[in-house]
Amino acid sequence: MENQFIQLQAKRRTIYALGKKLPQANSELVTLIETAIKNAPSAFNNQTTRAVILFNHYHDDLWDMTAERLKSEVPTEAAYQKTLEKLAGFKAAYGTILYFTDTAVVKQNETDFPLYAANFADWSEQAQGNAQYSVWTALAENGIGANLQHYNPLIDDQVAQAYDIPENWRLRGQMPFGSIEAAAGDKGFMADADRFKIFE
Ligand SMILES: Cc1cc2nc3c(=O)[nH]c(=O)nc-3n(C[C@H](O)[C@H](O)[C@H](O)COP(=O)(O)O)c2cc1C
Repeated sequence: MENQFIQLQAKRRTIYALGKKLPQANSELVTLIETAIKNAPSAFNNQTTRAVILFNHYHDDLWDMTAERLKSEVPTEAAYQKTLEKLAGFKAAYGTILYFTDTAVVKQNETDFPLYAANFADWSEQAQGNAQYSVWTALAENGIGANLQHYNPLIDDQVAQAYDIPENWRLRGQMPFGSIEAAAGDKGFMADADRFKIFE
């Protein structure tokens, strides 16, 4: 059995220690990310996932505005300092991918296909997963680390304003990426017997 894909799967990990030392040009990174998203499947091929790729000060701005936004949400000064440290780690990355769902497409699908109307919101989330996982794994294949964050919906308004985001795009995740400065931690797996059932 071929297991190149399985090996690649294992290579994709949550990398928190990210840096700016990437040999790839921005244009190569953009092509890789865009291609991975375009090839990820979606229900009815409705292509609901949108992405904004931030480099340079646009990337810095995201993590600065997140720090500013979280100030009033974190209960104590000590907790806020911890939050700032975490956010500084994301800012130390090379760039960030913002993932959105085009809710106008979801709504239109709900109207056009009433029989499946109850599914389209879930399907758009599943399409997000496909896209995010594809990008995360394609980055890993190229030796680029990434992690996945969810400061939405707290930062939605700031992000929309800063990057001219259409009204109908809903922020679903933030993926900082960059050079791998430290390996991922250990990862545990639940027992196969509790997860799988085989009938043969
Ligand atoms: C849907 C989803 C949401 C996640 N949200 C976060 C998050 O908000 N912050 C974070 O640090 N990691 C987040 N993660 C990363 C997981 O914690 C991580 O993938 C998991 O622990 C397995 O580790 P691995 O990515 O190294 O395989 C998320 C992962 C998924 C798939």
